[in-house]
Amino acid sequence: MKTKATVLSPATIANIVCGFDVLGLALESPCDEITLTMHKGPLNITIENLDSFQLPTDPTKNVMGVALQALLDTLEESYTCHIASKKIIMPGSGVGSSAASAAGIVYAANAILENRFTAQELIEFAKKGEQLASGSAHADNIAPCIMGGVTLVHCNDPIDVVSLPYPELFIALIHPQIELRTSDARAVIKSQVPLTKAVRQWAHVAALVAGFTLKDTALIARSLHDEIIEPSRKLLIPHFDQVKSLALASGAIGGGISGSGPSIFMFCTDAASAEKVANKMHMVYDSHHMESKKYVSKISATGVHVTSLI
Ligand code: HSE
Repeated sequence: MKTKATVLSPATIANIVCGFDVLGLALESPCDEITLTMHKGPLNITIENLDSFQLPTDPTKNVMGVALQALLDTLEESYTCHIASKKIIMPGSGVGSSAASAAGIVYAANAILENRFTAQELIEFAKKGEQLASGSAHADNIAPCIMGGVTLVHCNDPIDVVSLPYPELFIALIHPQIELRTSDARAVIKSQVPLTKAVRQWAHVAALVAGFTLKDTALIARSLHDEIIEPSRKLLIPHFDQVKSLALASGAIGGGISGSGPSIFMFCTDAASAEKVANKMHMVYDSHHMESKKYVSKISATGVHVTSLI
């Protein structure tokens, strides 16, 4: 039996503007690197952080510990596990940092266990980590992280995730260097939605899914509107309106808040316009003397993947 797996677990964009808690996609980069060592023996999980984020090393307080424990609880045999985690994806950035940890660790364990579990089962385990991180077991970051591409969480409990086809798209992303906790960004959302707005929103979600499936970028562009979540959350993101309107004027086909923010993403149809849009969004924060990090990535077809298994 193999005993040591290393995975690269990518950032993800949840919601994709109108699909709150149901749509998500995996990016090619940035990725966290997680190495899991697992031997048969007394049940124990130790965690070593190889980065400067100072996340808890107590496995009951760490998303990787909780997600791995959920998987181990289903096994007849017991294991002694050591996790070495090098996070690149900053917690509270809006690109699925906790999901990359939770999905990455269960994926690594599954590689050691010779792929005993299905993707949907791994998502169930990883949801426990998301629950710990944000108080909500949403799967819209975990699902694309584990399955790659663009995913639709048709049902969260029991989990039912659909992988969608998609056209080639380039993503420009800007991360203003502030931390926004998902639990805080969820707390500002109104719990009641007028029916007229709900109708427009589900029309956008349906049209976006059709746009991905038909690989129709014009339909995708027309569907990227959110009247329910964005109006409340954008108030937590400095200069959101200015960044979004400049990005659209600079060639992006559409975009909005990445996950629960503060990152903002924009879809572009070619690499050059994605670079241009990322630069323009970066310039907005520069002009306000705010630090920000820009990324350009394609959608990752694979999501989390094993780089070493010995
Ligand atoms: N769907 C979630 C939210 C993603 O928007 O709160 C954040 O992890």
